[in-house]
This record gives sequence, C-alpha cells and structure tokens, in this order.
Amino acid sequence: MYIEKPPMGWNSWNTFGEEINESLIMEAADAIVKSGLKDAGYEYVIIDDCWALRERGRDGRMVPDHKKFPSGMKALAEYIHKKGLKFGMYSCAGTMTCASYPGSLDHEFIDAQTFAEWGVDYLKYDYCFKPANADGATLYRRMGLALANSGRDILFAACSWGADATHSWIRSSHAHTWRSTGDINDSFVSIKSIIEQQIPLLPYGGQGCFNDMDMLIVGMNGKGNVGLTGCTFQEYKLHFSAWALFASPLIIGCDVRSMDETTRKILLNRDVIAVNQDRGGRQVYQTQNDYGVHVFVRVMENGDVVVGLFNLNDDRRRGILFSDTIGLSQNTGRTVVFRDLWTDERRYFVNGTIELSVDAHDCVMMRGSVKEL
Ligand code: GLA
Repeated sequence: MYIEKPPMGWNSWNTFGEEINESLIMEAADAIVKSGLKDAGYEYVIIDDCWALRERGRDGRMVPDHKKFPSGMKALAEYIHKKGLKFGMYSCAGTMTCASYPGSLDHEFIDAQTFAEWGVDYLKYDYCFKPANADGATLYRRMGLALANSGRDILFAACSWGADATHSWIRSSHAHTWRSTGDINDSFVSIKSIIEQQIPLLPYGGQGCFNDMDMLIVGMNGKGNVGLTGCTFQEYKLHFSAWALFASPLIIGCDVRSMDETTRKILLNRDVIAVNQDRGGRQVYQTQNDYGVHVFVRVMENGDVVVGLFNLNDDRRRGILFSDTIGLSQNTGRTVVFRDLWTDERRYFVNGTIELSVDAHDCVMMRGSVKEL
C-alpha cells in the first residue's frame, strides 16, 4: 500500500484516554459524518490505547475488553465502514502498550492477522516497553512486514516519538506515517516546541511516509486527557496551519460530538486542508526570519506557492517574505498575488517584499499564483 497524502481522521486519546467504549466510538463516527468533517476529508476513526483485556486469550490473540466493547471489534468496524469511514486501532512494538495493556512484541503476525480479520484499516504502533536489547528499526520492520502481508490494506502509523533517530530508519520499514516528536498536550508551549523540533526533520517526511507531529488539540479548550491550559483561537489556528503546511496527518483529538463554532471554523477550513492534501508532495522549506517570525514556503502541484508566517514569540512582530526566495527574481514581468487562507484578504509584493505585522502566537497563511505584471 502506498499513500500520497497525509491521513485525516479522529483518535480517542487526546480527550478520552482510557475512558473509551463502543458507544463513544459510534457516536464519534456519527458526529464526523453529521458535522461535515467526513465531507472535508476526515475518514479514519481510531481507537487508541486501553481497548484490550490485560491478558491475551488462550489462542494467543488479543481480546477486546468485553465491558468496553461488548459487540466486538468486527461489529464496530462494520458500523464505521457502513458510514463510509475507515477503522483504526492501536498496538505497541514492546511487551506492553504505554498504558500497560498487551503489546505486539513476538506476536506481530498473529496480531496483524487479527486486525485484518476485524476489518482494521489503520494501525497506530507505539514504542513503550521495548526490551533494551531490541532494535527499534527491526521491530517496526517486523510489524510492517506482517501488515503488508495480512491480505488487507492497513495504514501503518509508527509512533516512536522520534526516538533513536527514527528519521534515519523509518522509511526502511513499511510505515506510512511516523511520529517525529513526543506527545502533544493542549497548550501553546507544546505547539511551539513541536514546530521547532520539526524544522530539522522536514526533509525526512513526504509521500509514502509522512512526518506525524501528533494528533490535533484544536477544540479541546483545556478539557480531556491531555487538556492543559487550552489555547486561544489564534493559537489553534497557528497549530492547524503548521500541521497542514508541514504535511502532518490531521487527526482530530477533541470531542467531535460537541464542537463549538470556532473549532468547526478551524477544522473545516477547506483551503488549509487542501494545502495539507496537495498531491505534489513537495517539501516545505524555511526562508528568512529577520524579526523572529518563522516563514515557511511550500509549492503546490498546480504551480501555486503557499506561505506560512508563524509568530511563536510572545509579542507582536513583523514578518517578511522576499520574492527572490520563492524563485521570483526581479525583471521577470511577473508577480505572485496571494490570498489569505483565513481572512480572504489579497496580499501583493511591493518592491519585491511582503511585510506583515503578525500578532503574538498568531499566523498568516496565504496561497498565491503567478500573474503577469
Ligand atoms: C504514547 C503515545 C500517545 C498515546 C499513548 C497511549 O504516549 O505517544 O499518542 O497513544 O501512548 O498510552
């Protein structure tokens, strides 16, 4: 299986942690359809850690917790598939999952077979309880091999948090996405730290195996399992824009059954989603950041240029884009006219420069096409 765009969906962990059960997952699937998230491209409904019994069954297979999932995973998968959505689950490369449920170490093939039989379309694969002498690359190659030969297309979402220089070996496994950083929490400090850590890793993402900056916190507003301080509208907007521009998977983490208008406005911004899903699969690059505003650029398949100006500082700053840096040198008789993807404003080069004032923790994201002068 080959993927040319980052996966989009919803995962139970950020809000619900171990408080999961089949009615919650079914309600989340219903909400994804009703709210328009499905039409916008969100398709995977993913159960994270804490779905299994603490012990494997006599046949060596993992057993779903009967209290949480009385109808079993196959029935749940069918429910989700009937809605036109896809079903995701979770396991771990070590002896146990991070929350101490059975891990897949030395059970890779039987677990892959079980997931395939249940109708699973996506497997998040964590890195806790890895024996000290085991090699991470080998463990991801093992489960990758098992999934790729399970008879079902299962997206393999590696989750080793960038540990052990994940970027240097992950593409040698069958992984389709790979977590490049530690766990997110619902605060601007966390968003900022993940973006900064991502910068040197940008060349390692892209088609086939995308960098995963972790699940979205948009709309959590300080509530739930990884809820912390919560963020402002501008901070969530910057977070979503960066994840989209950097081609990270867009996996929602808030309670999709009760999203407010602001949350919808962000998660359903089709122009920003289109940047994330662009099939050109080009690497995002960083240009100057003269006044401390990060400026990132990515070219689109149709020739457009997308620019994100991210102010991670605690005060208002000026952000500058020079036309030269996006390949538009002087005297070409052409310019690029941009449209702001959040406010719809037009933005033009003046003397080869676009200079903008960006609020603290805010961003400007704009898309432009080449025009004759
Ligand atoms: C790790 C992962 C998280 C989540 C938890 C579950 O910390 O990075 O995303 O899956 O485990 O225990």
